[in-house]
Amino acid sequence: MRIDVITLFPEFMQECVKIGVVGRAVERGLLQIGAWNPRDYAMDAYRKVDDRTFGGGPGMVMLIDPLRAALQAARGASEKPSHTIYLSPQGTRLTQDKVRQLADEPRLILLCGRYEGVDERLLEHEVDEELSIGDYVLSGGELAAAVLIDAVGRLQEGALNDAQSAQQDSFSDGLLDCPHYTRPESHELGAVPAVLMSGDHAAIRRWRRKQALGRTWLRRPDLLENLSLDDESKKLLLEFQEERQTAIMED
Ligand code: ADE
Repeated sequence: MRIDVITLFPEFMQECVKIGVVGRAVERGLLQIGAWNPRDYAMDAYRKVDDRTFGGGPGMVMLIDPLRAALQAARGASEKPSHTIYLSPQGTRLTQDKVRQLADEPRLILLCGRYEGVDERLLEHEVDEELSIGDYVLSGGELAAAVLIDAVGRLQEGALNDAQSAQQDSFSDGLLDCPHYTRPESHELGAVPAVLMSGDHAAIRRWRRKQALGRTWLRRPDLLENLSLDDESKKLLLEFQEERQTAIMED
């Protein structure tokens, strides 16, 4: 897969993709990253990329032409068809389902805004989709692009080893992940749940599923509303709720 980023901070994007799973995917040639600076395509002597907003008010808006020229240059860098995304708080929310869908694209182009945003006409004509990584405002799209590249990059075939398998991820079945423990078995901060030390694989699987269901119910009930749980899962969630109720009463 190839991802090209249109950004006023190309060095930052290139640094971001050097570490961890994404860094390895780049090294293995599973992921190719390009960065294009609209300032290199500015038409005037001052290399201007923004101007005042029509209608008045504070803040600057990114000009159409430098962005459009950078987009065209990025598109020309490969023959594969590209899907162009603008990152902004006005976009639809990025979810794991969306990440899985984007991970199958041969090529993405990510447009990062700065200042108050980008001239709307460029978005209407040159962008396929607008995405937000959450309901908060960043000072530019670069960190959001780095988030998207990480989430999509780790799903490329061969990027994760078996132990990191994406099938075990949070959200892979619409639930949050269960808690995890490692050595030592007993510690002043507490003991590891006994079932995990039992060697009973069926019991461990049940415990993990119960914890995943319980955590999702406690922390993200909105996720549970969108799932239809089978009878076994309903039973496990009920057990979690009853155990929690008992623990609260005993406290
Ligand atoms: N740019 C600024 N804020 C953003 C957000 N929340 N998501 C995506 N891009 C952004």
